Amino acid sequence: MRITALRQDLTEDVLKLMDLGAPYVKARTSSDYWLYARLFASTCPVAIVEEVVAGAVIAMRSQENPEQIYIQDVVTHPGYRGKGIASALVDVVRRRGQELGCRLIYLTSEPDNTAACAAWKSMGFTNGPGDYLIDGVAITKDFKGPGKDRAIFELLLS
Ligand SMILES: CC(C)(COP(=O)(O)OP(=O)(O)OC[C@H]1O[C@@H](n2cnc3c(N)ncnc32)[C@H](O)[C@@H]1OP(=O)(O)O)[C@@H](O)C(=O)NCCC(=O)NCCS
Repeated sequence: MRITALRQDLTEDVLKLMDLGAPYVKARTSSDYWLYARLFASTCPVAIVEEVVAGAVIAMRSQENPEQIYIQDVVTHPGYRGKGIASALVDVVRRRGQELGCRLIYLTSEPDNTAACAAWKSMGFTNGPGDYLIDGVAITKDFKGPGKDRAIFELLLS
């Protein structure tokens, strides 16, 4: 596996990869990926396996709180799941966060995305407290707007 920062020439393949993250991830537009490659490449690692774009993370450092990095999307190609790709990509973001002096990486999952919740926990993220529990996962009500309850996961950086 090769991991590279998101580049303009990878954006169309990353968009197609994100489509494979349905129903939990929805691909954004070409212009969005252009912007991520242009402004946030060092926190948007892409995994390439056998010349296939097999995984990608889209994350950005907050301007409001520069000690925080928000992971917007994580997708591994269905044919390559369970092989440590998401872990390796999140690790790149973690190391970049440490270089930048950040203290926290956080992300959200939909309450029923049990695979993702298990993945974040195994990577060392912590969850909760929230407003209610589903299968032991703390969910915060309306976190992303009315009716958009989310599980919030945080990883403290040393
Ligand atoms: C969630 C997702 C990104 C995980 O990617 P992945 O490359 O398969 O994950 P990894 O192989 O790096 O696994 C990381 C850890 O999560 C665990 N994990 C991964 N998938 C799992 C599953 N379906 N059930 C339980 N645990 C799982 C692994 O066992 C591993 O833990 P370990 O290191 O203790 O063994 C992938 O399933 C995916 O793309 N899903 C669709 C899109 C999505 O839901 N994205 C997240 C939106 S919030």
